[in-house]
Amino acid sequence: MERVLEQNIMEEIAQRYSTIYFADAPVDERDLQGILLAATQAPSAYNEQPWRFFVAKTPQDKEMLLEYMMPSEREWMATAPVLILVAGNMGDTHNGLFNYWTAFDSGCAWGYLSLEAQSRGYVTHCIGSFDRVDLRNEFQLAENLELYGIVALGRPAAEAVTRKEKQMPRKSVNAVQLRRR
Ligand SMILES: Cc1cc2nc3c(=O)[nH]c(=O)nc-3n(C[C@H](O)[C@H](O)[C@H](O)COP(=O)(O)O)c2cc1C
Repeated sequence: MERVLEQNIMEEIAQRYSTIYFADAPVDERDLQGILLAATQAPSAYNEQPWRFFVAKTPQDKEMLLEYMMPSEREWMATAPVLILVAGNMGDTHNGLFNYWTAFDSGCAWGYLSLEAQSRGYVTHCIGSFDRVDLRNEFQLAENLELYGIVALGRPAAEAVTRKEKQMPRKSVNAVQLRRR
């Protein structure tokens, strides 16, 4: 079931939602590269491009990521052909200072990723509930790197299945206005 919007907006934005139903179909390698390319086109503070990705497409890499998820998410994340861990680098900046905008910019990159996926006929679902501490250890991450989300990417399941899903409601534009006192 689709949200009703007051105006037409970009089709990919209007249609995207976080599905838990993926088709048993692979992600084409060229599409995967295009989807990642789109993510890297996001704007970033000082053009630091702090986003980092780990792409799990082999059974071994997927299993490794699935191990750090909660059973409720693991069940459907396992059905996606590709899992993308989204991280951000707060260090290695042009001025040697901590990059305050890493999370903001990495979020924008994942947004671009999801919309490019949508436009190529794929669907995505990002999760933040995984064991961040243990996964950090798995990657032996430097202190400057933070883990934000794991994105499931794949073709949508048949309409008969996804019909059960509904788009989540949104606050109105008015409700998200900051007001000065
Ligand atoms: C950073 C982030 C973390 C999320 N974590 C989870 C999660 O742990 N489990 C889950 O089922 N969905 C998760 N989601 C999906 C959100 O619940 C979903 O985006 C939100 O309800 C809006 O629905 P929509 O994406 O279908 O529009 C997460 C989304 C984001 C962006």
